[in-house]
Amino acid sequence: MTQNNQSSLITQHQYCHCDVVLGGMVVLSLAVAVKELVENSLDAGATKIDIRLKNHGVDLIEVSDNGTGVTEDNFSALTLKYHTSKLTDYSDLLGVSSFGFRGEALSSLCALAKLTITTRHQSADYATKIEYDHKGHIINKTPCSRQIGTTVTLTDLFSSLPVRQKELQKNSKREFNKMTSLLYAYCLISLGVNITCSNQSNSNTKSLVVTTQGSISYKDNIAAVFGVKQLDNLLDIKTEYAPNIKENIFKGLSGEVKISEESINVEDTEIDLSEDSNDAENNEISNTQDSIQSSQKSQGYKNGAPPVELVGYISTCAHGCGRSSADRQFYYVNSRPCEPTKIMKLINEIYRQFNPHQYPFVFLNIVLERTLVDVNVTPDKRKLFLAKEKAILDVVKCSISKLFENIPRVVKLETAHSINNTQIVPDMEQSRIFNSFMQQFSNKSTKSDIKTNGNTEKKPELKRKSNTLLDYAI
Ligand SMILES: Nc1ncnc2c1ncn2[C@@H]1O[C@H](COP(=O)(O)OP(=O)(O)OP(=O)(O)O)[C@@H](O)[C@H]1O
Ligand SMILES: [Mg+2]
Repeated sequence: MTQNNQSSLITQHQYCHCDVVLGGMVVLSLAVAVKELVENSLDAGATKIDIRLKNHGVDLIEVSDNGTGVTEDNFSALTLKYHTSKLTDYSDLLGVSSFGFRGEALSSLCALAKLTITTRHQSADYATKIEYDHKGHIINKTPCSRQIGTTVTLTDLFSSLPVRQKELQKNSKREFNKMTSLLYAYCLISLGVNITCSNQSNSNTKSLVVTTQGSISYKDNIAAVFGVKQLDNLLDIKTEYAPNIKENIFKGLSGEVKISEESINVEDTEIDLSEDSNDAENNEISNTQDSIQSSQKSQGYKNGAPPVELVGYISTCAHGCGRSSADRQFYYVNSRPCEPTKIMKLINEIYRQFNPHQYPFVFLNIVLERTLVDVNVTPDKRKLFLAKEKAILDVVKCSISKLFENIPRVVKLETAHSINNTQIVPDMEQSRIFNSFMQQFSNKSTKSDIKTNGNTEKKPELKRKSNTLLDYAI
Protein backbone atom coordinates (compact mmCIF):
# COMPACT_ATOMS: atom_id res chain seq x y z
CA MET A 1 0.00 0.00 0.00
CA THR A 2 2.88 2.33 -0.40
CA GLN A 3 2.82 5.30 -2.62
CA ASN A 4 5.88 6.36 -4.48
CA ASN A 5 4.66 9.67 -5.71
CA GLN A 6 4.87 11.52 -2.40
CA SER A 7 7.19 14.05 -3.92
CA SER A 8 4.63 14.78 -6.62
CA LEU A 9 2.80 18.04 -6.32
CA ILE A 10 -0.07 18.04 -3.87
CA THR A 11 -3.02 19.35 -5.79
CA GLN A 12 -6.64 19.93 -5.12
CA HIS A 13 -8.35 17.01 -6.77
CA GLN A 14 -10.40 17.98 -9.75
CA TYR A 15 -13.61 16.50 -8.44
CA CYS A 16 -13.72 18.29 -5.11
CA HIS A 17 -16.61 20.44 -6.22
CA CYS A 18 -18.92 17.43 -6.47
CA ASP A 19 -19.71 14.70 -4.01
CA VAL A 20 -17.73 11.89 -5.59
CA VAL A 21 -15.28 11.77 -2.72
CA LEU A 22 -17.35 11.62 0.41
CA GLY A 23 -16.68 14.68 2.45
CA GLY A 24 -17.21 15.04 6.16
CA MET A 25 -15.29 15.27 9.35
CA VAL A 26 -12.72 12.51 8.99
CA VAL A 27 -11.31 12.53 12.49
CA LEU A 28 -13.82 11.89 15.24
CA SER A 29 -11.73 9.99 17.77
CA LEU A 30 -8.23 9.44 19.05
CA ALA A 31 -8.13 6.10 17.22
CA VAL A 32 -8.93 7.67 13.86
CA ALA A 33 -6.43 10.51 14.42
CA VAL A 34 -3.62 7.99 14.96
CA LYS A 35 -4.87 5.78 12.11
CA GLU A 36 -4.81 8.67 9.64
CA LEU A 37 -1.24 9.62 10.56
CA VAL A 38 -0.03 6.01 10.40
CA GLU A 39 -1.72 5.56 7.01
CA ASN A 40 0.06 8.67 5.73
CA SER A 41 3.40 7.27 6.89
CA LEU A 42 2.72 3.92 5.22
CA ASP A 43 1.64 5.68 2.02
CA ALA A 44 4.92 7.60 2.15
CA GLY A 45 6.77 4.26 1.97
CA ALA A 46 8.07 4.37 5.56
CA THR A 47 9.82 1.30 6.95
CA LYS A 48 9.99 2.75 10.45
CA ILE A 49 7.09 4.45 12.21
CA ASP A 50 7.28 5.71 15.75
CA ILE A 51 4.07 6.71 17.53
CA ARG A 52 4.44 8.64 20.77
CA LEU A 53 1.55 9.59 23.02
CA LYS A 54 1.45 11.57 26.22
CA ASN A 55 -1.28 11.01 28.76
CA HIS A 56 -3.04 8.52 26.45
CA GLY A 57 -3.09 11.03 23.62
CA VAL A 58 -4.83 13.80 25.57
CA ASP A 59 -1.65 15.90 25.78
CA LEU A 60 0.25 14.81 22.68
CA ILE A 61 0.14 12.53 19.64
CA GLU A 62 3.26 12.35 17.53
CA VAL A 63 3.90 10.10 14.53
CA SER A 64 7.42 10.07 13.02
CA ASP A 65 8.44 8.15 9.94
CA ASN A 66 11.36 7.61 7.61
CA GLY A 67 9.21 7.95 4.50
CA THR A 68 9.76 10.18 1.52
CA GLY A 69 9.28 13.47 3.32
CA VAL A 70 7.56 16.48 1.75
CA THR A 71 9.08 18.92 -0.71
CA GLU A 72 9.00 22.62 0.09
CA ASP A 73 6.61 23.45 -2.76
CA ASN A 74 4.02 21.26 -1.05
CA PHE A 75 4.22 22.79 2.45
CA SER A 76 1.22 25.04 2.01
CA ALA A 77 -1.03 22.57 0.13
CA LEU A 78 -0.40 19.75 2.60
CA THR A 79 -3.10 20.73 5.04
CA LEU A 80 -5.69 22.18 2.68
CA LYS A 81 -9.00 20.39 2.26
CA TYR A 82 -9.23 18.03 -0.74
CA HIS A 83 -5.53 18.39 -1.48
CA THR A 84 -3.76 15.12 -2.08
CA SER A 85 -0.76 13.78 -3.97
CA LYS A 86 -2.31 10.31 -4.17
CA LEU A 87 -4.92 10.77 -6.87
CA THR A 88 -4.84 13.01 -9.84
CA ASP A 89 -8.19 12.31 -11.36
CA TYR A 90 -11.42 10.48 -10.73
CA SER A 91 -10.47 7.33 -12.64
CA ASP A 92 -7.64 6.71 -10.12
CA LEU A 93 -10.26 6.22 -7.43
CA LEU A 94 -11.48 2.96 -8.98
CA GLY A 95 -8.27 1.09 -8.41
CA VAL A 96 -6.86 3.11 -5.53
CA SER A 97 -4.04 1.32 -3.75
CA SER A 98 -2.95 3.94 -1.23
CA PHE A 99 -4.66 4.19 2.16
CA GLY A 100 -5.37 7.89 1.65
CA PHE A 101 -7.04 9.52 -1.32
CA ARG A 102 -9.43 12.16 0.02
CA GLY A 103 -6.91 14.85 0.94
CA GLU A 104 -8.88 15.55 4.09
CA ALA A 105 -7.13 14.03 7.08
CA LEU A 106 -4.52 16.71 7.74
CA SER A 107 -6.98 19.53 7.10
CA SER A 108 -9.40 17.89 9.54
CA LEU A 109 -6.65 17.51 12.13
CA CYS A 110 -5.69 21.18 11.71
CA ALA A 111 -9.27 22.15 12.42
CA LEU A 112 -9.37 20.00 15.55
CA ALA A 113 -5.92 20.42 17.09
CA LYS A 114 -2.66 22.33 17.04
CA LEU A 115 -0.68 20.71 14.23
CA THR A 116 3.03 20.93 13.51
CA ILE A 117 4.91 19.09 10.77
CA THR A 118 8.65 18.59 10.66
CA THR A 119 9.74 17.13 7.37
CA ARG A 120 12.74 16.59 5.16
CA HIS A 121 12.57 15.38 1.60
CA GLN A 122 15.60 13.61 0.14
CA SER A 123 16.16 16.58 -2.15
CA ALA A 124 16.49 18.97 0.85
CA ASP A 125 19.69 19.66 2.80
CA TYR A 126 17.84 20.27 6.03
CA ALA A 127 14.43 19.73 7.58
CA THR A 128 11.73 22.33 8.13
CA LYS A 129 9.37 22.68 11.06
CA ILE A 130 6.03 24.09 9.94
CA GLU A 131 3.26 25.25 12.27
CA TYR A 132 -0.29 25.46 10.93
CA ASP A 133 -3.38 27.30 12.12
CA HIS A 134 -6.87 25.79 12.38
CA LYS A 135 -7.58 26.61 8.75
CA GLY A 136 -4.48 24.77 7.59
CA HIS A 137 -2.49 27.92 6.80
CA ILE A 138 1.19 28.19 7.70
CA ILE A 139 1.86 30.34 10.79
CA ASN A 140 5.55 29.71 11.17
CA LYS A 141 8.36 27.92 9.33
CA THR A 142 11.81 27.22 10.79
CA PRO A 143 14.74 25.18 9.51
CA CYS A 144 15.93 22.36 11.75
CA SER A 145 17.80 19.07 11.56
CA ARG A 146 16.20 15.73 10.91
CA GLN A 147 16.74 12.58 8.90
CA ILE A 148 14.67 12.13 5.74
CA GLY A 149 11.04 11.61 6.67
CA THR A 150 8.18 13.35 8.42
CA THR A 151 7.00 13.96 11.97
CA VAL A 152 3.45 15.12 12.58
CA THR A 153 2.76 16.48 16.07
CA LEU A 154 -0.71 17.10 17.44
CA THR A 155 -1.44 18.81 20.72
CA ASP A 156 -4.72 19.91 22.21
CA LEU A 157 -6.76 17.37 20.22
CA PHE A 158 -10.41 18.46 19.85
CA SER A 159 -9.67 21.92 21.30
CA SER A 160 -12.19 23.33 18.82
CA LEU A 161 -14.84 20.85 19.98
CA PRO A 162 -14.89 21.35 23.79
CA VAL A 163 -17.51 18.68 24.47
CA ARG A 164 -15.56 16.07 22.54
CA GLN A 165 -12.35 17.17 24.23
CA LYS A 166 -13.92 16.72 27.67
CA GLU A 167 -15.16 13.29 26.63
CA LEU A 168 -11.65 12.33 25.53
CA GLN A 169 -10.19 13.53 28.82
CA LYS A 170 -12.82 11.69 30.82
CA ASN A 171 -12.60 8.43 28.85
CA SER A 172 -8.97 8.66 27.84
CA LYS A 173 -8.12 5.07 28.74
CA ARG A 174 -11.10 3.65 26.85
CA GLU A 175 -10.29 5.79 23.81
CA PHE A 176 -6.67 4.75 24.12
CA ASN A 177 -7.66 1.06 24.10
CA LYS A 178 -9.74 1.58 20.95
CA MET A 179 -6.76 3.29 19.36
CA THR A 180 -4.54 0.36 20.34
CA SER A 181 -6.74 -2.27 18.72
CA LEU A 182 -7.00 -0.24 15.53
CA LEU A 183 -3.25 0.22 15.52
CA TYR A 184 -2.78 -3.54 15.91
CA ALA A 185 -4.55 -4.01 12.58
CA TYR A 186 -1.86 -1.91 10.86
CA CYS A 187 0.95 -3.58 12.82
CA LEU A 188 -0.21 -7.03 11.67
CA ILE A 189 -0.67 -6.28 7.98
CA SER A 190 2.40 -4.11 7.44
CA LEU A 191 5.26 -6.28 6.23
CA GLY A 192 8.77 -4.92 6.40
CA VAL A 193 7.70 -1.99 8.56
CA ASN A 194 8.87 -1.49 12.10
CA ILE A 195 6.01 0.12 14.04
CA THR A 196 6.46 1.18 17.64
CA CYS A 197 3.96 2.90 19.92
CA SER A 198 4.61 4.20 23.41
CA ASN A 199 2.70 6.21 25.95
CA GLN A 200 4.06 8.55 28.57
CA SER A 201 1.76 8.88 31.53
CA ASN A 202 1.26 11.92 33.73
CA SER A 203 3.76 10.54 36.20
CA ASN A 204 6.35 10.53 33.39
CA THR A 205 6.56 6.77 33.18
CA LYS A 206 6.89 5.61 29.61
CA SER A 207 5.29 2.36 28.60
CA LEU A 208 5.67 0.45 25.37
CA VAL A 209 2.27 -0.24 23.82
CA VAL A 210 3.38 -2.32 20.86
CA THR A 211 6.40 -2.90 18.68
CA THR A 212 6.90 -4.95 15.52
CA GLN A 213 10.22 -6.04 14.09
CA GLY A 214 9.76 -5.10 10.45
CA SER A 215 9.44 -8.76 9.51
CA ILE A 216 8.16 -9.91 6.15
CA SER A 217 5.99 -12.59 7.74
CA TYR A 218 2.47 -12.07 9.08
CA LYS A 219 3.11 -14.73 11.70
CA ASP A 220 6.09 -12.77 13.04
CA ASN A 221 3.86 -9.71 13.26
CA ILE A 222 1.21 -11.68 15.14
CA ALA A 223 3.88 -12.92 17.55
CA ALA A 224 5.27 -9.41 17.99
CA VAL A 225 1.87 -7.92 18.78
CA PHE A 226 0.27 -10.70 20.86
CA GLY A 227 3.19 -12.90 21.90
CA VAL A 228 4.33 -16.21 20.40
CA LYS A 229 1.67 -18.12 22.28
CA GLN A 230 -0.94 -16.64 19.98
CA LEU A 231 0.57 -18.70 17.16
CA ASP A 232 -0.39 -21.94 18.91
CA ASN A 233 -3.50 -23.48 17.43
CA LEU A 234 -3.68 -21.19 14.41
CA LEU A 235 -4.70 -22.68 11.09
CA ASP A 236 -3.59 -21.39 7.71
CA ILE A 237 -6.60 -20.17 5.74
CA LYS A 238 -6.53 -21.62 2.22
CA THR A 239 -8.83 -20.50 -0.54
CA GLU A 240 -11.34 -23.21 -1.38
CA TYR A 241 -14.04 -23.15 -4.03
CA ALA A 242 -16.91 -25.63 -3.84
CA PRO A 243 -17.69 -27.02 -7.31
CA ASN A 244 -20.77 -24.83 -7.76
CA ILE A 245 -18.86 -21.84 -6.43
CA LYS A 246 -16.07 -22.62 -8.82
CA GLU A 247 -18.52 -22.40 -11.66
CA ASN A 248 -19.70 -19.05 -10.45
CA ILE A 249 -16.17 -17.92 -10.07
CA PHE A 250 -15.47 -19.08 -13.60
CA LYS A 251 -18.26 -16.80 -14.63
CA GLY A 252 -16.23 -14.06 -13.04
CA LEU A 253 -17.83 -13.72 -9.59
CA SER A 254 -21.20 -13.86 -11.27
CA GLY A 255 -22.91 -14.04 -7.93
CA GLU A 256 -25.61 -16.37 -9.23
CA VAL A 257 -25.75 -17.92 -5.82
CA LYS A 258 -28.95 -18.47 -3.89
CA ILE A 259 -28.79 -16.89 -0.51
CA SER A 260 -31.35 -17.31 2.21
CA GLU A 261 -31.41 -13.85 3.69
CA GLU A 262 -32.58 -15.10 7.13
CA SER A 263 -29.19 -16.51 7.89
CA ILE A 264 -27.65 -13.09 8.02
CA ASN A 265 -29.22 -10.70 10.39
CA VAL A 266 -29.42 -7.70 8.19
CA GLU A 267 -30.26 -5.36 11.03
CA ASP A 268 -26.78 -5.98 12.35
CA THR A 269 -25.18 -4.67 9.23
CA GLU A 270 -24.82 -0.96 8.93
CA ILE A 271 -24.65 -0.67 5.21
CA ASP A 272 -26.30 -2.64 2.50
CA LEU A 273 -23.61 -4.53 0.73
CA SER A 274 -26.06 -6.41 -1.42
CA GLU A 275 -25.27 -6.97 -5.01
CA ASP A 276 -28.10 -4.82 -6.29
CA SER A 277 -27.18 -1.79 -4.28
CA ASN A 278 -23.61 -2.11 -5.41
CA ASP A 279 -24.60 -2.40 -8.99
CA ALA A 280 -27.04 0.45 -8.79
CA GLU A 281 -24.56 2.79 -7.25
CA ASN A 282 -21.40 1.79 -8.96
CA ASN A 283 -22.06 1.69 -12.64
CA GLU A 284 -18.50 2.47 -13.35
CA ILE A 285 -17.33 -0.44 -11.23
CA SER A 286 -19.86 -2.73 -12.91
CA ASN A 287 -18.63 -1.76 -16.33
CA THR A 288 -15.07 -2.46 -15.40
CA GLN A 289 -16.20 -5.68 -13.86
CA ASP A 290 -18.06 -6.71 -17.00
CA SER A 291 -14.86 -6.54 -18.90
CA ILE A 292 -13.06 -8.49 -16.18
CA GLN A 293 -15.82 -11.09 -16.25
CA SER A 294 -15.66 -11.54 -19.96
CA SER A 295 -11.90 -11.81 -19.92
CA GLN A 296 -12.11 -14.36 -17.11
CA LYS A 297 -14.77 -16.27 -19.01
CA SER A 298 -12.55 -16.55 -21.99
CA GLN A 299 -9.39 -17.39 -20.05
CA GLY A 300 -10.66 -19.33 -17.05
CA TYR A 301 -8.99 -18.33 -13.82
CA LYS A 302 -6.63 -21.29 -13.93
CA ASN A 303 -4.62 -19.29 -16.40
CA GLY A 304 -4.62 -16.16 -14.32
CA ALA A 305 -4.89 -15.12 -10.69
CA PRO A 306 -8.07 -16.38 -8.97
CA PRO A 307 -10.61 -13.58 -8.55
CA VAL A 308 -10.66 -13.99 -4.75
CA GLU A 309 -7.80 -15.16 -2.63
CA LEU A 310 -7.93 -15.56 1.12
CA VAL A 311 -4.72 -15.12 3.05
CA GLY A 312 -4.52 -15.45 6.80
CA TYR A 313 -4.97 -17.44 9.96
CA ILE A 314 -7.80 -18.50 12.22
CA SER A 315 -7.93 -20.35 15.57
CA THR A 316 -8.59 -24.03 15.28
CA CYS A 317 -12.11 -24.92 16.35
CA ALA A 318 -10.95 -27.58 18.80
CA HIS A 319 -12.45 -27.10 22.24
CA GLY A 320 -10.54 -24.54 24.31
CA CYS A 321 -8.45 -23.21 21.42
CA GLY A 322 -10.51 -20.08 20.75
CA ARG A 323 -10.96 -16.91 22.79
CA SER A 324 -13.64 -15.89 25.22
CA SER A 325 -14.46 -12.79 23.17
CA ALA A 326 -14.11 -11.61 19.59
CA ASP A 327 -11.40 -9.17 20.64
CA ARG A 328 -8.71 -10.35 18.24
CA GLN A 329 -10.26 -10.32 14.82
CA PHE A 330 -8.62 -8.42 11.99
CA TYR A 331 -10.10 -8.21 8.53
CA TYR A 332 -8.61 -6.65 5.42
CA VAL A 333 -9.56 -6.23 1.82
CA ASN A 334 -6.48 -5.88 -0.35
CA SER A 335 -4.48 -5.23 2.83
CA ARG A 336 -6.72 -2.34 3.88
CA PRO A 337 -7.99 -2.82 7.46
CA CYS A 338 -11.79 -2.70 7.37
CA GLU A 339 -15.03 -4.02 8.84
CA PRO A 340 -16.67 -6.29 6.25
CA THR A 341 -19.68 -6.88 8.50
CA LYS A 342 -21.22 -9.85 6.71
CA ILE A 343 -17.93 -11.68 6.33
CA MET A 344 -17.16 -11.12 10.02
CA LYS A 345 -20.56 -12.46 10.99
CA LEU A 346 -20.29 -15.47 8.71
CA ILE A 347 -16.89 -16.49 10.05
CA ASN A 348 -18.04 -16.25 13.66
CA GLU A 349 -21.18 -18.25 12.86
CA ILE A 350 -19.17 -21.02 11.21
CA TYR A 351 -16.74 -21.11 14.11
CA ARG A 352 -19.54 -21.36 16.63
CA GLN A 353 -21.00 -24.35 14.79
CA PHE A 354 -17.85 -26.21 15.74
CA ASN A 355 -16.94 -24.49 19.00
CA PRO A 356 -20.11 -22.95 20.44
CA HIS A 357 -18.58 -21.29 23.48
CA GLN A 358 -15.65 -19.46 21.96
CA TYR A 359 -14.61 -16.95 19.32
CA PRO A 360 -11.73 -17.36 16.95
CA PHE A 361 -8.61 -15.27 16.54
CA VAL A 362 -8.90 -14.09 12.95
CA PHE A 363 -6.38 -12.46 10.66
CA LEU A 364 -7.88 -12.49 7.18
CA ASN A 365 -6.84 -10.59 4.10
CA ILE A 366 -9.26 -10.89 1.18
CA VAL A 367 -7.35 -10.25 -1.98
CA LEU A 368 -9.49 -9.11 -4.90
CA GLU A 369 -9.26 -7.31 -8.16
CA ARG A 370 -9.04 -3.66 -7.01
CA THR A 371 -11.80 -2.53 -9.31
CA LEU A 372 -14.23 -4.82 -7.46
CA VAL A 373 -13.82 -2.81 -4.27
CA ASP A 374 -15.18 0.64 -3.58
CA VAL A 375 -13.27 2.21 -0.70
CA ASN A 376 -15.03 5.54 -0.99
CA VAL A 377 -17.97 4.71 1.27
CA THR A 378 -17.45 6.30 4.68
CA PRO A 379 -15.10 9.11 5.70
CA ASP A 380 -12.98 6.80 7.87
CA LYS A 381 -12.80 4.21 5.01
CA ARG A 382 -13.62 1.36 7.41
CA LYS A 383 -16.65 0.23 5.38
CA LEU A 384 -16.23 -0.99 1.84
CA PHE A 385 -18.53 -1.94 -0.98
CA LEU A 386 -17.57 -5.29 -2.45
CA ALA A 387 -18.99 -5.94 -5.88
CA LYS A 388 -20.59 -9.43 -5.96
CA GLU A 389 -20.13 -9.86 -2.24
CA LYS A 390 -22.32 -12.98 -2.19
CA ALA A 391 -19.84 -14.93 -4.27
CA ILE A 392 -17.06 -13.78 -1.95
CA LEU A 393 -19.09 -14.95 1.05
CA ASP A 394 -19.37 -18.33 -0.66
CA VAL A 395 -15.63 -18.66 -0.98
CA VAL A 396 -15.16 -17.62 2.66
CA LYS A 397 -17.78 -20.11 3.80
CA CYS A 398 -16.31 -22.95 1.82
CA SER A 399 -12.72 -22.21 2.86
CA ILE A 400 -13.42 -21.88 6.58
CA SER A 401 -15.80 -24.86 6.78
CA LYS A 402 -13.32 -27.07 4.95
CA LEU A 403 -10.61 -26.02 7.35
CA PHE A 404 -12.61 -27.17 10.37
CA GLU A 405 -14.07 -30.30 8.80
CA ASN A 406 -11.27 -32.62 9.81
CA ILE A 407 -10.26 -31.08 13.11
CA PRO A 408 -10.49 -33.80 15.75
CA ARG A 409 -12.71 -32.73 18.61
CA VAL A 410 -10.46 -32.75 21.64
CA VAL A 411 -12.07 -34.39 24.63
CA LYS A 412 -10.53 -34.14 28.06
CA LEU A 413 -10.68 -37.63 29.46
CA GLU A 414 -9.09 -37.01 32.86
CA THR A 415 -12.43 -37.66 34.54
CA ALA A 416 -12.71 -40.97 32.73
CA HIS A 417 -9.60 -42.49 34.34
CA SER A 418 -11.45 -43.44 37.47
CA ILE A 419 -14.42 -44.76 35.60
CA ASN A 420 -14.89 -48.41 34.77
CA ASN A 421 -16.46 -49.59 31.52
CA THR A 422 -20.00 -49.14 32.70
CA GLN A 423 -19.58 -45.86 34.53
CA ILE A 424 -18.95 -43.02 32.24
CA VAL A 425 -20.17 -39.56 33.13
CA PRO A 426 -19.48 -37.10 30.39
CA ASP A 427 -19.21 -33.40 30.96
CA MET A 428 -22.58 -32.03 29.87
CA GLU A 429 -20.92 -29.30 27.88
CA GLN A 430 -19.04 -31.83 25.88
CA SER A 431 -21.82 -34.32 25.40
CA ARG A 432 -22.01 -33.93 21.65
CA ILE A 433 -18.30 -34.41 21.28
CA PHE A 434 -18.37 -37.16 23.83
CA ASN A 435 -21.20 -38.99 22.10
CA SER A 436 -19.54 -39.00 18.73
CA PHE A 437 -16.33 -40.14 20.39
CA MET A 438 -18.18 -42.96 22.08
CA GLN A 439 -19.94 -43.96 18.89
CA GLN A 440 -16.72 -44.07 17.03
CA PHE A 441 -14.77 -46.14 19.51
CA SER A 442 -17.16 -48.25 21.50
CA ASN A 443 -20.37 -48.43 19.50
CA LYS A 444 -22.00 -48.82 22.90
CA SER A 445 -23.76 -45.52 23.27
CA THR A 446 -26.41 -43.93 21.18
CA LYS A 447 -26.77 -40.23 20.65
CA SER A 448 -29.08 -39.76 23.58
CA ASP A 449 -28.66 -42.74 25.89
CA ILE A 450 -25.61 -43.11 28.06
CA LYS A 451 -25.22 -45.70 30.78
CA THR A 452 -24.67 -44.13 34.11
CA ASN A 453 -24.30 -46.25 37.26
CA GLY A 454 -25.94 -49.11 35.50
CA ASN A 455 -29.07 -47.07 34.68
CA THR A 456 -30.02 -45.78 31.33
CA GLU A 457 -30.31 -42.06 31.67
CA LYS A 458 -32.02 -40.00 29.03
CA LYS A 459 -29.57 -37.20 28.27
CA PRO A 460 -30.93 -33.98 26.87
CA GLU A 461 -30.24 -34.02 23.16
CA LEU A 462 -27.54 -31.49 22.49
CA LYS A 463 -27.74 -31.73 18.77
CA ARG A 464 -25.28 -29.93 16.64
CA LYS A 465 -26.88 -26.73 15.44
CA SER A 466 -28.60 -27.17 12.14
CA ASN A 467 -26.49 -26.35 9.20
CA THR A 468 -29.09 -24.01 7.79
CA LEU A 469 -27.19 -21.02 9.03
CA LEU A 470 -24.31 -22.08 6.92
CA ASP A 471 -26.32 -23.11 3.95
CA TYR A 472 -27.46 -19.76 2.75
CA ALA A 473 -24.62 -19.22 0.41
CA ILE A 474 -25.09 -22.27 -1.72
N1 LIG B 1 3.94 11.29 6.60
C1 LIG B 1 3.88 11.85 5.39
N2 LIG B 1 4.94 11.77 4.54
C2 LIG B 1 4.92 12.33 3.32
N3 LIG B 1 3.85 13.02 2.84
C3 LIG B 1 2.77 13.13 3.63
C4 LIG B 1 2.73 12.58 4.94
N4 LIG B 1 1.54 12.86 5.48
C5 LIG B 1 0.87 13.55 4.56
N5 LIG B 1 1.59 13.72 3.44
C6 LIG B 1 1.18 14.44 2.21
O1 LIG B 1 0.10 15.27 2.58
C7 LIG B 1 -1.02 15.03 1.73
C8 LIG B 1 -2.28 15.26 2.53
O2 LIG B 1 -2.42 14.25 3.53
P1 LIG B 1 -3.88 13.85 4.00
O3 LIG B 1 -3.78 12.74 4.95
O4 LIG B 1 -4.58 15.09 4.43
O5 LIG B 1 -4.58 13.39 2.66
P2 LIG B 1 -4.44 12.01 1.88
O6 LIG B 1 -3.60 11.08 2.63
O7 LIG B 1 -3.98 12.37 0.50
O8 LIG B 1 -5.94 11.53 1.84
P3 LIG B 1 -6.85 11.10 3.10
O9 LIG B 1 -7.57 12.31 3.57
O10 LIG B 1 -7.76 10.10 2.51
O11 LIG B 1 -5.94 10.57 4.13
C9 LIG B 1 -0.85 13.62 1.24
O12 LIG B 1 -1.49 13.43 -0.02
C10 LIG B 1 0.67 13.49 1.14
O13 LIG B 1 1.13 13.99 -0.10
MG1 LIG C 1 -4.00 10.60 4.61
